[in-house]
Amino acid sequence: MKKIPVFVQIAFVALLSVSCGGNQPTVQNFDDVVAMRRSVRDYDASRSITQEEVMDLIKTAQEAPSWANQQPSKYYVAISPEKVAAVKELVGEGNKRNTAGAPVMIVSTYVKARSGFFRGNPANEIGDGWGAYDNGLSNAYLILKARERGFDTLIMGMRNSDELRKLLAIPDDECIMAVISLGYRASDPNRPERKATNDIVKFF
Ligand SMILES: Cc1cc2nc3c(=O)[nH]c(=O)nc-3n(C[C@H](O)[C@H](O)[C@H](O)COP(=O)(O)O)c2cc1C
Repeated sequence: MKKIPVFVQIAFVALLSVSCGGNQPTVQNFDDVVAMRRSVRDYDASRSITQEEVMDLIKTAQEAPSWANQQPSKYYVAISPEKVAAVKELVGEGNKRNTAGAPVMIVSTYVKARSGFFRGNPANEIGDGWGAYDNGLSNAYLILKARERGFDTLIMGMRNSDELRKLLAIPDDECIMAVISLGYRASDPNRPERKATNDIVKFF
């Protein structure tokens, strides 16, 4: 059999590693996606993400369950360099530094007085906490889908909601929750330790 020249072999391996997302191993099953998802605070500034790719993540987030299918979550996506930079100014110095190379910043909100409400009144003591709950569920779907696609995220609770509202024209009837950076990891983060499972569960 004819021998394949070394430079062709090298080109093939390089192509394969790029199509697998550089240092991002392609993850296939749910447990791998969960294990590989980490809060990423170091992004590769040379890699971008398209609007279509973000739309795919949001479509997955829409599959999350919500109170009476109220679907209270909304997403404001900063993808132009100017808006991305402006959102990064509003997440505090540490988060700004940690998301420096992220090409996309997503702000998640929920419409108030929908989830957990019945005919305009809170159905129980949690009130609008159910809107926050639903938004967290949607965001969990979004960040796991992102990882499955080879992207990385950081959820940020430290953010200036008043300034974000002005910057992105977010209506007053929406509660601003997390800012989520989206991009490609530049290095692999450690896994912060979890509590012992026995300490957080009781069976009856
Ligand atoms: C609601 C929420 C708010 C968070 N806010 C921040 C934040 O402002 N800055 C930050 O660096 N990490 C933030 N995190 C990330 C957590 O620190 C991280 O999820 C936790 O340490 C576990 O690490 P892991 O996500 O890599 O498993 C937040 C996470 C959540 C769910």
